[in-house]
Amino acid sequence: MIDRPDVIVVARSAIAAAPIAEMQALCDALANSGVAAHTSFAFTEQGEPALRECLSERIDAGAGRIVLVPLLVPREPSFANWIAKALARWRAGDERAWPPVLLAPPPMALPGAGDLLARAVAATHDWPQPPEPVLKAEGSIVPAQKHRMLVCHGAPCTAAGAALVWGHLRNEQARQSLRTVGEGMMSAKSTCLGPCSLAPVVQVWPAGTTYGGVDEAGIDAIIRDHILSGQVAEAYAYPADGRKQRLRKGSA
Ligand code: FES
Repeated sequence: MIDRPDVIVVARSAIAAAPIAEMQALCDALANSGVAAHTSFAFTEQGEPALRECLSERIDAGAGRIVLVPLLVPREPSFANWIAKALARWRAGDERAWPPVLLAPPPMALPGAGDLLARAVAATHDWPQPPEPVLKAEGSIVPAQKHRMLVCHGAPCTAAGAALVWGHLRNEQARQSLRTVGEGMMSAKSTCLGPCSLAPVVQVWPAGTTYGGVDEAGIDAIIRDHILSGQVAEAYAYPADGRKQRLRKGSA
């Protein structure tokens, strides 16, 4: 049936086996409903597959139409905008012909969501007894990694797609073992870092280098040049020179 779309159920983040199994179970349930030609799941932040990878796989598979179903509750007001911008950027850098990619409304905004929540209430069991807390007598090691990469999640950076930047960084950090390679790197989300006009903004410490207009290619450049080679990734860097700056042309 060619009129059924390929459906990608989109969630924010998952790295443990249990939530990934939960996503697979949701996809299986959707597949059983018969509305989709193919079902899969993807993440906008940390977790594999990333949305871009999942889309690429469905395009390679010859999908005639792709529908994204966002499971982000509550959905950020800017979500549809930054997803649309990311899709446009990914499509512009891809030589393949893309099928239409559509965004479904959030399921919890649809009629019937109240019934679903009511069924959850009716199915509630007693809360399981939490285990006794185990105090770790051995303590913790203070991290020795030299570099800290901060990914701004203030409102302007979030609206510019910081979630995708963060997700790509975390996935690359895991793939390239960046915590232990070279001088080591850790990462964290931050509140506003200051230069909102340069969103999405990333800073790398201890150098304190500010990068702006960062997309997936920007993260790749910062990892390659700054983290692994100790050089500033010039194409994305903005100097702390005390003057107002705007994104250069060609930035994300
Ligand atoms: S919100 Fe990111 S720099 Fe202000």
